[in-house]
Amino acid sequence: AVDISSLYQEAGFLTYDPGFMSTASCHSSITFIDGEQGILLYRGYPIEQLSAKASFLEVAYLLLYGELPNEKALAEFEQVIMRHTMLNENLKNFLNGFHYDAHPMAILIGVVGSLSAFYHDSLSINNVRHREISAHRLIAKVPTIAAAAYKHSIGEPIIYPRNDLRYCANFLHMMFATPCEEYRPSLLAERALNLLFILHADHEQNASTSTVRLAASSGANPFACIAAGIASLWGPAHGGANEAVIAMLTEIGEVKHIPKYIAKAKDKDDPFRLMGFGHRVYKNYDPRAKILREVCHQVLNELADANNPLFELAMRLEEIALSDDYFIERRLYPNVDFYSGIIYQALGIPRNMFTVMFAVARTVGWVAHWLEMMGDPDNRIGRPRQIYRGPGKRDYLPIWQR
Ligand code: ACO
Repeated sequence: AVDISSLYQEAGFLTYDPGFMSTASCHSSITFIDGEQGILLYRGYPIEQLSAKASFLEVAYLLLYGELPNEKALAEFEQVIMRHTMLNENLKNFLNGFHYDAHPMAILIGVVGSLSAFYHDSLSINNVRHREISAHRLIAKVPTIAAAAYKHSIGEPIIYPRNDLRYCANFLHMMFATPCEEYRPSLLAERALNLLFILHADHEQNASTSTVRLAASSGANPFACIAAGIASLWGPAHGGANEAVIAMLTEIGEVKHIPKYIAKAKDKDDPFRLMGFGHRVYKNYDPRAKILREVCHQVLNELADANNPLFELAMRLEEIALSDDYFIERRLYPNVDFYSGIIYQALGIPRNMFTVMFAVARTVGWVAHWLEMMGDPDNRIGRPRQIYRGPGKRDYLPIWQR
């Protein structure tokens, strides 16, 4: 066998950075995070101010165009987005092809990817106007697809969007109305959703956004790139964590079992992790979790079934983990997914839709990054290298000699 060190020499000098812990893959002007201090800014505006004062579409405009809209610009943007909420009727055939109990995330990945087959009139990525139309279509249609995926999974007819409603109210309408019954969301439910969507809208180069950028770096169309982002979001270490939080709470079952699960989380031979705790970047309290914690308690007080043991369990787990040395030393605070899962549950959103909700909100961030990247003259195909660990060069042996 040939000495493989000679192969290393050929590869030149490489940085080995598993998980890209210390690698900046791009320049971006969209979102700033300081994980040590727990700071999150969208285009320079603190998340605390935006989540307290802005509407989701106002934040979407900010992320896409870099500035907050004035009244006229916001009204026009809302109108454009709401005008694009309908789906091509033939998409329904595509949707109906999925098995009734398919996970809505699986449906979302497939149907969003299929948009490139339905809206190919705007696929020229070198045309600035085409890019903008695709961006608007994605922000408008992903909620419609998400709600349709849910309706499909429960065997109910799809509810068409209502463009006279605000973005979040329309989403709740498509989720919960039926052809026989109107649905009027409470103001608290709409406000809570608006808040959750704002907090989830962008988070710089997380796994799914990096996936969107990597897919886009080859010049792939935006619908295909966003479908790739949704696929990456699905994992339990990323967007799937909010669903995993409720699954974990259900498994724990009773407050008296919490110590057993805390012990499992600390045991290095046990793969169990406390879902909804810890974050790759925030080694201080996640500022989004801080905002959601307050709203979570409010939503639980006003909307939730006070007798649901899951909520008491969640609050006890939060208390215990926050006072346990293992979690304190490693700075493992409850993250945004811990609270978002609980709030979605209280709003009546089914568990298998939690990650879908995250995808609806994050579509805005993915699209903003895609637009930024398309306008960046330094954009080049993403092509990481590797440190080869396999055998050195060897000769093929005929099968009877092996
Ligand atoms: N439960 C128990 N221990 C944990 C947890 C947890 N949830 N998270 C981290 N740790 C421990 C690790 O075992 C490790 O301990 P050690 O130093 O004794 O070996 C230490 O804390 C550091 O953990 P890392 O794995 O190095 O942290 P990393 O930054 O790679 O992981 C992650 C971050 C994936 C979020 C992790 O904390 C985790 O798995 N959390 C649960 C899943 C979750 O909630 N994901 C949502 C993230 S937020 C989002 O996507 C919006």
